[in-house]
Amino acid sequence: MKKVLVTGASGFVGGHVVQALARNGIQPRCLVRQTSRLDYIKDWSPELVFGDITSPASLETAVEGVDGIVHCAGVIRALSLEEFMRVNADGCSNLYRACLAKNPAVRRIVHISSLTALGPSVAGGPTKEGQDRHPVSNYGNSKLAGHRIAEAHMDRLPIVILIPPAVYGPFDRTFLGLFACVNKGFALAIGREERWASLIFAKDLARAVLACLDSEKAVGNEYLVEDGQPHTWREVAAAVGQSMHKSPVRIPIPPILAKAASTIIGCAARWTGKPAFFDRNRLNDFLQPSWTCSSAKICRELDFTPQYTLKRGIEETYLWYKDQNWL
Ligand SMILES: NC(=O)c1ccc[n+]([C@@H]2O[C@H](COP(=O)([O-])OP(=O)(O)OC[C@H]3O[C@@H](n4cnc5c(N)ncnc54)[C@H](OP(=O)(O)O)[C@@H]3O)[C@@H](O)[C@H]2O)c1
Repeated sequence: MKKVLVTGASGFVGGHVVQALARNGIQPRCLVRQTSRLDYIKDWSPELVFGDITSPASLETAVEGVDGIVHCAGVIRALSLEEFMRVNADGCSNLYRACLAKNPAVRRIVHISSLTALGPSVAGGPTKEGQDRHPVSNYGNSKLAGHRIAEAHMDRLPIVILIPPAVYGPFDRTFLGLFACVNKGFALAIGREERWASLIFAKDLARAVLACLDSEKAVGNEYLVEDGQPHTWREVAAAVGQSMHKSPVRIPIPPILAKAASTIIGCAARWTGKPAFFDRNRLNDFLQPSWTCSSAKICRELDFTPQYTLKRGIEETYLWYKDQNWL
């Protein structure tokens, strides 16, 4: 592949995809908005195309003449289900329609879904591809709607769906809160029970994207991608502590208090018009005992092996945060 369009290129995941493409000699074309910050991609000589995923006409020029597309644009916080749907679902229809109209011969499209679209793991172990889907938040429901739109276009476009669990690494601000707390000597947890999660380091996710762009076998398939073993949040906080030579004290917050806090945060978000990552609806995701999944299929079929253990990924993330003076 010579040229690949990345939507959401100015974001956390998109930024890593742009860097991985450029490092592998593939020219990234970046769909960005006039307001997008280009800090993470500007050094990689990207071709910029201005457009908005919610504006179909703006996508036609973007998709023309590229060999592949990586669809990362999405919102991870919004004030309502409608707002989530407009970008995470309708945005996918707009992009794939533009592609059918202007570049039906595109060689590969990688659609970035989310484990929240499939829902928390049910008893019996980590989630696998093809299991029943049962999202528990507005975000998860909008990602499932987008996932289904990608599936509905698989008969006409060479789409691969990649399903990451929580992603962490340089550029990310979601995990920064955990690092900041640990830096002050504590780690918050909701309730006393142990909660489990699969994670993927952003550079490994970007490598999985390259594997999907590269493999003919991937077309029409969906792949979960994680770092090889499930983690408890206690273990994640300990790894963060280890990276900064600190031993955080775990502070369990009673779920009722978390509900009250999330309600207040949600009200403040509506009042200011600025969506929050953690509100009453999103709390449903945080309250689940387990968000684990298995990347056995992508490892087997696309010969993918994650290179980052939790310890290595957390250390690299910490050094990056420190270097940026974020901590
Ligand atoms: N982060 C995770 O843990 C995680 C886990 C699983 C799946 N995902 C998925 O990965 C994708 C990227 O997430 P992220 O964490 O990188 O989020 P992010 O840092 O907030 O980046 C989102 C990107 O989407 C762009 N975008 C948002 N609305 C847009 C619109 N209307 N038109 C064009 N571009 C728009 C943003 O552009 P601006 O810079 O202009 O705002 C930004 O580049 C999302 O689809 C998300 O659901 C993320």
